[in-house]
Amino acid sequence: MHPMGSIIPLLTEFEKEHLSERQPLPERYLGLSDAEMASRIAIARATLGNRLLILGHHYQRDEVIRFADFTGDSFKLARHIATRPEAEFIVFCGVHFMAESADVLCAPHQQVILPDLAAGCSMADMAEPEQLQQCWEDLQKMGVAAGAVPVTYINSAASIKAFVGEQGGTVCTSSNAEATLRWAFARGEKVLFLPDQHLGRNTAFKMGIPLDQMVVWDPNEESGGLDSEQVRRAKMILWKGHCSVHVRFTAAQIAATRAQYPGIRVIVHPEVPLDVVQAADDAGSTEYIIGQVKGSPEGSVWAVGTEVHLVNRLATEVAPGKTVISLDQFGCLCSTMFRVSPNHLLWILEELVAGRVQNRVTVSEDQKHWNRVALDRMLSIQ
Ligand code: 13P
Ligand code: SF4
Repeated sequence: MHPMGSIIPLLTEFEKEHLSERQPLPERYLGLSDAEMASRIAIARATLGNRLLILGHHYQRDEVIRFADFTGDSFKLARHIATRPEAEFIVFCGVHFMAESADVLCAPHQQVILPDLAAGCSMADMAEPEQLQQCWEDLQKMGVAAGAVPVTYINSAASIKAFVGEQGGTVCTSSNAEATLRWAFARGEKVLFLPDQHLGRNTAFKMGIPLDQMVVWDPNEESGGLDSEQVRRAKMILWKGHCSVHVRFTAAQIAATRAQYPGIRVIVHPEVPLDVVQAADDAGSTEYIIGQVKGSPEGSVWAVGTEVHLVNRLATEVAPGKTVISLDQFGCLCSTMFRVSPNHLLWILEELVAGRVQNRVTVSEDQKHWNRVALDRMLSIQ
Protein backbone atom coordinates (compact mmCIF):
# COMPACT_ATOMS: atom_id res chain seq x y z
CA MET A 1 0.00 0.00 0.00
CA HIS A 2 1.22 3.49 -0.75
CA PRO A 3 2.13 5.88 2.02
CA MET A 4 -0.73 8.22 2.86
CA GLY A 5 -0.67 11.43 0.93
CA SER A 6 -0.22 12.39 -2.68
CA ILE A 7 -0.11 9.70 -5.31
CA ILE A 8 1.90 10.02 -8.48
CA PRO A 9 -0.11 8.21 -11.11
CA LEU A 10 1.88 5.66 -13.07
CA LEU A 11 0.94 5.69 -16.73
CA THR A 12 0.11 2.40 -18.38
CA GLU A 13 1.14 1.77 -21.97
CA PHE A 14 -2.49 2.36 -22.93
CA GLU A 15 -2.51 5.75 -21.25
CA LYS A 16 0.83 6.79 -22.75
CA GLU A 17 -0.48 5.92 -26.20
CA HIS A 18 -3.64 7.91 -25.62
CA LEU A 19 -1.85 10.91 -24.18
CA SER A 20 0.10 11.13 -27.40
CA GLU A 21 -3.26 11.68 -29.12
CA ARG A 22 -3.51 15.16 -27.65
CA GLN A 23 -4.47 17.93 -30.02
CA PRO A 24 -1.22 19.44 -31.34
CA LEU A 25 -0.50 23.02 -30.29
CA PRO A 26 1.36 25.81 -32.07
CA GLU A 27 5.08 25.47 -31.32
CA ARG A 28 5.17 28.63 -29.21
CA TYR A 29 2.84 27.02 -26.62
CA LEU A 30 5.18 24.11 -25.93
CA GLY A 31 7.90 24.03 -23.29
CA LEU A 32 6.56 26.97 -21.26
CA SER A 33 7.26 27.06 -17.54
CA ASP A 34 4.34 26.64 -15.10
CA ALA A 35 4.92 30.15 -13.81
CA GLU A 36 4.78 31.71 -17.26
CA MET A 37 1.61 29.82 -18.18
CA ALA A 38 -0.06 30.77 -14.91
CA SER A 39 0.71 34.46 -15.32
CA ARG A 40 -0.36 34.58 -18.99
CA ILE A 41 -3.60 32.68 -18.25
CA ALA A 42 -4.35 35.14 -15.45
CA ILE A 43 -3.75 38.10 -17.81
CA ALA A 44 -6.01 36.62 -20.50
CA ARG A 45 -8.77 35.91 -17.96
CA ALA A 46 -8.60 39.44 -16.64
CA THR A 47 -8.73 40.85 -20.19
CA LEU A 48 -11.79 38.79 -21.09
CA GLY A 49 -13.54 39.54 -17.77
CA ASN A 50 -17.23 38.65 -17.65
CA ARG A 51 -17.23 37.58 -21.28
CA LEU A 52 -15.50 34.39 -20.15
CA LEU A 53 -16.67 31.51 -17.97
CA ILE A 54 -14.28 28.66 -17.23
CA LEU A 55 -15.89 25.46 -15.96
CA GLY A 56 -13.80 22.66 -14.46
CA HIS A 57 -14.79 19.06 -13.81
CA HIS A 58 -13.43 17.56 -10.59
CA TYR A 59 -11.18 15.15 -12.53
CA GLN A 60 -9.15 17.98 -14.05
CA ARG A 61 -5.61 18.41 -12.81
CA ASP A 62 -4.69 21.17 -10.38
CA GLU A 63 -2.74 23.25 -12.94
CA VAL A 64 -5.98 23.59 -14.91
CA ILE A 65 -8.76 23.55 -12.34
CA ARG A 66 -7.26 26.39 -10.35
CA PHE A 67 -8.35 28.69 -13.17
CA ALA A 68 -11.97 27.49 -13.18
CA ASP A 69 -14.62 30.01 -12.13
CA PHE A 70 -16.81 27.11 -11.12
CA THR A 71 -16.08 23.46 -10.42
CA GLY A 72 -18.44 20.52 -10.09
CA ASP A 73 -19.61 17.12 -11.19
CA SER A 74 -21.44 16.65 -14.49
CA PHE A 75 -24.83 17.54 -13.02
CA LYS A 76 -23.70 20.65 -11.15
CA LEU A 77 -21.76 21.96 -14.14
CA ALA A 78 -24.72 21.39 -16.48
CA ARG A 79 -26.96 23.33 -14.08
CA HIS A 80 -24.48 26.17 -13.84
CA ILE A 81 -24.60 26.99 -17.56
CA ALA A 82 -27.91 28.89 -17.31
CA THR A 83 -26.66 31.06 -14.46
CA ARG A 84 -24.08 33.00 -16.51
CA PRO A 85 -25.85 34.39 -19.62
CA GLU A 86 -23.40 37.30 -19.78
CA ALA A 87 -20.52 34.95 -20.63
CA GLU A 88 -19.97 34.87 -24.39
CA PHE A 89 -17.39 32.12 -24.13
CA ILE A 90 -17.77 29.02 -21.98
CA VAL A 91 -14.44 27.23 -21.79
CA PHE A 92 -15.21 23.72 -20.58
CA CYS A 93 -12.27 22.02 -18.88
CA GLY A 94 -13.70 18.53 -19.04
CA VAL A 95 -14.46 16.09 -21.85
CA HIS A 96 -16.31 16.29 -25.15
CA PHE A 97 -19.75 15.07 -24.06
CA MET A 98 -19.81 17.74 -21.32
CA ALA A 99 -19.03 20.48 -23.84
CA GLU A 100 -21.76 19.18 -26.16
CA SER A 101 -24.32 19.28 -23.35
CA ALA A 102 -23.20 22.80 -22.48
CA ASP A 103 -23.76 23.86 -26.09
CA VAL A 104 -27.31 22.52 -25.93
CA LEU A 105 -28.06 24.19 -22.60
CA CYS A 106 -26.48 27.59 -23.26
CA ALA A 107 -28.09 30.58 -24.98
CA PRO A 108 -27.62 31.14 -28.74
CA HIS A 109 -25.15 34.02 -28.21
CA GLN A 110 -22.82 31.78 -26.13
CA GLN A 111 -20.04 29.63 -27.56
CA VAL A 112 -18.65 26.53 -25.89
CA ILE A 113 -14.97 25.73 -26.23
CA LEU A 114 -13.09 22.54 -25.31
CA PRO A 115 -9.36 23.29 -24.81
CA ASP A 116 -8.31 19.97 -26.41
CA LEU A 117 -10.71 18.48 -28.93
CA ALA A 118 -9.15 15.06 -28.33
CA ALA A 119 -10.46 15.04 -24.76
CA GLY A 120 -13.19 12.44 -25.20
CA CYS A 121 -14.56 9.70 -22.99
CA SER A 122 -13.92 6.03 -23.74
CA MET A 123 -17.24 5.08 -22.15
CA ALA A 124 -19.19 7.52 -24.34
CA ASP A 125 -17.47 5.96 -27.38
CA MET A 126 -18.96 2.57 -26.45
CA ALA A 127 -22.41 3.59 -27.71
CA GLU A 128 -22.69 4.52 -31.39
CA PRO A 129 -25.97 5.96 -32.72
CA GLU A 130 -26.24 3.19 -35.35
CA GLN A 131 -25.89 0.56 -32.64
CA LEU A 132 -28.64 2.20 -30.59
CA GLN A 133 -30.91 2.44 -33.64
CA GLN A 134 -30.32 -1.27 -34.30
CA CYS A 135 -30.98 -2.12 -30.66
CA TRP A 136 -34.26 -0.23 -30.68
CA GLU A 137 -35.36 -1.96 -33.91
CA ASP A 138 -34.52 -5.31 -32.31
CA LEU A 139 -36.53 -4.39 -29.21
CA GLN A 140 -39.43 -3.42 -31.49
CA LYS A 141 -39.24 -6.80 -33.24
CA MET A 142 -39.25 -8.50 -29.84
CA GLY A 143 -42.37 -6.50 -28.98
CA VAL A 144 -40.87 -4.72 -25.96
CA ALA A 145 -39.87 -1.28 -27.26
CA ALA A 146 -43.29 0.27 -26.58
CA GLY A 147 -42.99 -0.48 -22.87
CA ALA A 148 -39.29 0.42 -22.60
CA VAL A 149 -37.94 3.83 -21.56
CA PRO A 150 -34.42 4.62 -22.81
CA VAL A 151 -32.15 6.35 -20.30
CA THR A 152 -28.68 7.47 -21.26
CA TYR A 153 -25.97 8.49 -18.85
CA ILE A 154 -24.74 12.02 -19.61
CA ASN A 155 -21.46 10.32 -20.62
CA SER A 156 -22.74 9.76 -24.17
CA ALA A 157 -22.64 11.54 -27.52
CA ALA A 158 -25.24 14.17 -28.47
CA SER A 159 -26.59 11.80 -31.15
CA ILE A 160 -27.43 9.25 -28.43
CA LYS A 161 -29.11 11.87 -26.26
CA ALA A 162 -31.18 13.06 -29.23
CA PHE A 163 -32.40 9.52 -29.90
CA VAL A 164 -33.30 8.97 -26.26
CA GLY A 165 -35.11 12.31 -26.03
CA GLU A 166 -37.16 11.55 -29.13
CA GLN A 167 -38.16 8.14 -27.77
CA GLY A 168 -39.58 9.65 -24.56
CA GLY A 169 -36.50 8.92 -22.46
CA THR A 170 -34.06 11.05 -20.56
CA VAL A 171 -30.45 11.67 -19.64
CA CYS A 172 -29.15 10.99 -16.13
CA THR A 173 -25.98 11.70 -14.20
CA SER A 174 -24.48 9.75 -11.35
CA SER A 175 -26.09 12.35 -9.03
CA ASN A 176 -29.66 11.65 -10.06
CA ALA A 177 -29.56 8.09 -11.43
CA GLU A 178 -31.91 6.66 -8.79
CA ALA A 179 -34.49 9.44 -9.19
CA THR A 180 -34.20 8.94 -12.95
CA LEU A 181 -34.97 5.24 -12.73
CA ARG A 182 -38.03 6.02 -10.58
CA TRP A 183 -39.10 8.54 -13.24
CA ALA A 184 -38.59 5.98 -15.98
CA PHE A 185 -40.43 3.15 -14.20
CA ALA A 186 -43.39 5.48 -13.73
CA ARG A 187 -43.54 5.64 -17.55
CA GLY A 188 -42.66 2.14 -18.67
CA GLU A 189 -42.17 -1.40 -17.46
CA LYS A 190 -38.51 -1.68 -18.44
CA VAL A 191 -35.52 0.58 -18.90
CA LEU A 192 -32.86 0.46 -21.59
CA PHE A 193 -29.87 1.96 -19.76
CA LEU A 194 -26.75 3.04 -21.62
CA PRO A 195 -23.79 3.22 -22.00
CA ASP A 196 -22.59 2.30 -18.46
CA GLN A 197 -23.80 -1.11 -17.36
CA HIS A 198 -22.30 -0.59 -13.90
CA LEU A 199 -24.11 2.64 -13.05
CA GLY A 200 -27.33 1.04 -14.33
CA ARG A 201 -26.85 -2.19 -12.38
CA ASN A 202 -25.69 -0.50 -9.16
CA THR A 203 -28.59 1.94 -9.18
CA ALA A 204 -31.26 -0.64 -10.01
CA PHE A 205 -29.89 -3.13 -7.46
CA LYS A 206 -29.97 -0.46 -4.75
CA MET A 207 -33.62 0.12 -5.62
CA GLY A 208 -34.37 -3.55 -5.06
CA ILE A 209 -34.43 -4.85 -8.62
CA PRO A 210 -32.93 -8.36 -8.51
CA LEU A 211 -30.00 -9.26 -10.73
CA ASP A 212 -32.04 -11.95 -12.52
CA GLN A 213 -34.25 -9.14 -13.85
CA MET A 214 -31.27 -7.46 -15.51
CA VAL A 215 -29.71 -8.46 -18.84
CA VAL A 216 -26.67 -7.10 -20.64
CA TRP A 217 -27.16 -5.95 -24.22
CA ASP A 218 -23.98 -6.44 -26.23
CA PRO A 219 -24.17 -4.04 -29.19
CA ASN A 220 -21.58 -6.11 -31.05
CA GLU A 221 -23.73 -9.25 -30.99
CA GLU A 222 -26.81 -9.99 -33.05
CA SER A 223 -29.93 -9.04 -31.01
CA GLY A 224 -27.60 -7.92 -28.25
CA GLY A 225 -26.62 -11.58 -27.69
CA LEU A 226 -30.03 -12.20 -26.07
CA ASP A 227 -33.20 -14.04 -27.00
CA SER A 228 -36.66 -12.45 -26.87
CA GLU A 229 -37.61 -14.36 -23.73
CA GLN A 230 -34.59 -13.05 -21.79
CA VAL A 231 -35.38 -9.49 -22.86
CA ARG A 232 -39.12 -9.86 -22.10
CA ARG A 233 -38.39 -11.06 -18.55
CA ALA A 234 -35.91 -8.24 -17.81
CA LYS A 235 -36.74 -4.95 -16.12
CA MET A 236 -33.30 -3.48 -16.85
CA ILE A 237 -31.57 -3.85 -20.21
CA LEU A 238 -28.01 -2.76 -19.52
CA TRP A 239 -25.81 -1.66 -22.42
CA LYS A 240 -22.44 -3.40 -22.44
CA GLY A 241 -20.31 -0.32 -21.75
CA HIS A 242 -18.05 0.71 -18.91
CA CYS A 243 -15.53 3.28 -17.70
CA SER A 244 -12.01 1.98 -18.17
CA VAL A 245 -10.85 4.05 -15.19
CA HIS A 246 -13.44 2.88 -12.66
CA VAL A 247 -13.42 -0.82 -13.56
CA ARG A 248 -9.88 -0.96 -12.22
CA PHE A 249 -11.14 -0.75 -8.65
CA THR A 250 -11.70 -4.15 -7.05
CA ALA A 251 -13.26 -5.69 -3.94
CA ALA A 252 -9.83 -7.24 -3.21
CA GLN A 253 -8.37 -3.72 -2.92
CA ILE A 254 -11.08 -2.88 -0.40
CA ALA A 255 -10.32 -5.99 1.66
CA ALA A 256 -6.58 -5.19 1.64
CA THR A 257 -7.22 -1.55 2.57
CA ARG A 258 -9.49 -2.50 5.47
CA ALA A 259 -6.88 -4.97 6.73
CA GLN A 260 -4.21 -2.27 6.67
CA TYR A 261 -6.32 0.59 8.05
CA PRO A 262 -8.90 -0.80 10.48
CA GLY A 263 -11.89 1.53 10.74
CA ILE A 264 -11.26 3.18 7.35
CA ARG A 265 -14.33 4.35 5.41
CA VAL A 266 -14.45 3.32 1.75
CA ILE A 267 -16.41 5.41 -0.75
CA VAL A 268 -16.57 4.75 -4.49
CA HIS A 269 -18.09 6.22 -7.64
CA PRO A 270 -21.06 4.16 -8.95
CA GLU A 271 -19.22 3.45 -12.22
CA VAL A 272 -17.32 0.72 -10.35
CA PRO A 273 -18.62 -2.88 -10.61
CA LEU A 274 -21.41 -4.06 -8.28
CA ASP A 275 -19.19 -6.22 -6.04
CA VAL A 276 -17.00 -3.18 -5.37
CA VAL A 277 -19.99 -1.03 -4.40
CA GLN A 278 -21.19 -3.87 -2.16
CA ALA A 279 -17.80 -4.08 -0.44
CA ALA A 280 -17.60 -0.29 0.03
CA ASP A 281 -19.33 1.72 2.76
CA ASP A 282 -20.87 4.21 0.37
CA ALA A 283 -21.10 5.19 -3.30
CA GLY A 284 -22.00 8.37 -5.13
CA SER A 285 -21.11 10.98 -7.71
CA THR A 286 -17.93 13.02 -7.45
CA GLU A 287 -19.82 15.86 -5.76
CA TYR A 288 -21.36 13.39 -3.29
CA ILE A 289 -17.96 11.91 -2.48
CA ILE A 290 -16.54 15.36 -1.76
CA GLY A 291 -19.50 16.22 0.47
CA GLN A 292 -19.26 13.01 2.48
CA VAL A 293 -15.52 13.31 3.08
CA LYS A 294 -15.63 17.03 3.91
CA GLY A 295 -18.62 16.55 6.22
CA SER A 296 -17.04 13.68 8.16
CA PRO A 297 -15.65 14.15 11.67
CA GLU A 298 -12.03 15.18 12.28
CA GLY A 299 -9.74 12.18 12.41
CA SER A 300 -11.69 10.26 9.74
CA VAL A 301 -9.69 8.10 7.37
CA TRP A 302 -11.06 7.49 3.87
CA ALA A 303 -10.19 5.34 0.88
CA VAL A 304 -11.75 6.79 -2.26
CA GLY A 305 -12.42 4.86 -5.46
CA THR A 306 -12.51 7.44 -8.22
CA GLU A 307 -10.19 9.43 -10.50
CA VAL A 308 -6.83 10.23 -8.94
CA HIS A 309 -6.83 14.02 -9.42
CA LEU A 310 -9.99 14.37 -7.38
CA VAL A 311 -8.65 12.01 -4.72
CA ASN A 312 -5.34 13.87 -4.40
CA ARG A 313 -7.02 17.27 -4.27
CA LEU A 314 -9.50 16.08 -1.67
CA ALA A 315 -6.63 14.66 0.39
CA THR A 316 -4.91 18.03 0.40
CA GLU A 317 -8.07 20.01 1.13
CA VAL A 318 -9.11 17.95 4.17
CA ALA A 319 -5.61 17.49 5.63
CA PRO A 320 -4.37 17.60 8.34
CA GLY A 321 -7.56 16.75 10.25
CA LYS A 322 -8.66 13.92 7.96
CA THR A 323 -6.83 11.44 5.80
CA VAL A 324 -7.75 10.44 2.26
CA ILE A 325 -6.02 7.77 0.19
CA SER A 326 -6.83 6.29 -3.20
CA LEU A 327 -8.33 2.83 -3.15
CA ASP A 328 -5.92 1.90 -5.94
CA GLN A 329 -2.31 2.30 -4.83
CA PHE A 330 -1.29 3.61 -8.26
CA GLY A 331 -4.25 6.00 -8.52
CA CYS A 332 -6.57 5.56 -11.49
CA LEU A 333 -6.08 8.29 -14.06
CA CYS A 334 -8.61 9.38 -16.70
CA SER A 335 -6.23 9.87 -19.59
CA THR A 336 -8.76 11.77 -21.68
CA MET A 337 -9.54 14.30 -18.93
CA PHE A 338 -5.75 14.67 -18.60
CA ARG A 339 -5.48 15.83 -22.19
CA VAL A 340 -6.71 19.27 -21.16
CA SER A 341 -3.39 20.88 -20.27
CA PRO A 342 -2.59 24.40 -19.05
CA ASN A 343 -0.84 24.88 -22.42
CA HIS A 344 -4.11 24.18 -24.25
CA LEU A 345 -6.02 26.46 -21.90
CA LEU A 346 -3.51 29.28 -22.43
CA TRP A 347 -3.69 28.89 -26.21
CA ILE A 348 -7.51 28.97 -26.19
CA LEU A 349 -7.63 32.07 -23.98
CA GLU A 350 -4.98 34.04 -25.87
CA GLU A 351 -6.76 33.24 -29.13
CA LEU A 352 -9.99 34.61 -27.62
CA VAL A 353 -8.17 37.77 -26.58
CA ALA A 354 -6.99 38.06 -30.20
CA GLY A 355 -10.62 37.72 -31.37
CA ARG A 356 -10.35 34.15 -32.60
CA VAL A 357 -12.50 31.26 -31.36
CA GLN A 358 -10.70 27.93 -31.50
CA ASN A 359 -12.10 24.48 -30.67
CA ARG A 360 -15.76 25.46 -30.57
CA VAL A 361 -18.00 22.46 -29.84
CA THR A 362 -21.45 22.55 -31.40
CA VAL A 363 -24.34 20.15 -31.59
CA SER A 364 -26.03 20.17 -35.00
CA GLU A 365 -29.36 21.98 -35.20
CA ASP A 366 -31.24 18.79 -36.12
CA GLN A 367 -30.03 17.13 -32.91
CA LYS A 368 -30.41 20.13 -30.63
CA HIS A 369 -34.15 19.97 -30.05
CA TRP A 370 -34.28 16.39 -28.73
CA ASN A 371 -31.06 16.89 -26.80
CA ARG A 372 -32.62 19.85 -25.05
CA VAL A 373 -35.77 17.86 -24.29
CA ALA A 374 -33.69 15.03 -22.79
CA LEU A 375 -31.36 17.35 -20.84
CA ASP A 376 -34.25 19.47 -19.51
CA ARG A 377 -35.84 16.27 -18.23
CA MET A 378 -32.53 15.41 -16.58
CA LEU A 379 -32.29 18.82 -14.89
CA SER A 380 -35.83 18.50 -13.55
CA ILE A 381 -35.23 15.07 -11.97
CA GLN A 382 -33.48 15.14 -8.59
P1 13P B 1 -19.72 12.76 -12.25
O1 13P B 1 -21.07 12.79 -12.88
O2 13P B 1 -19.72 12.20 -10.88
O3 13P B 1 -19.08 14.07 -12.38
O4 13P B 1 -18.83 11.75 -13.08
C1 13P B 1 -18.48 12.01 -14.39
C2 13P B 1 -17.59 11.01 -14.91
O5 13P B 1 -17.18 11.05 -16.02
C3 13P B 1 -17.24 9.94 -14.01
O6 13P B 1 -16.38 9.10 -14.63
FE1 SF4 C 1 -15.21 8.82 -19.26
FE2 SF4 C 1 -14.37 7.23 -17.28
FE3 SF4 C 1 -12.97 9.44 -17.93
FE4 SF4 C 1 -15.35 9.63 -16.70
S1 SF4 C 1 -13.48 8.74 -15.88
S2 SF4 C 1 -14.65 10.85 -18.45
S3 SF4 C 1 -16.46 7.89 -17.67
S4 SF4 C 1 -13.33 7.62 -19.26
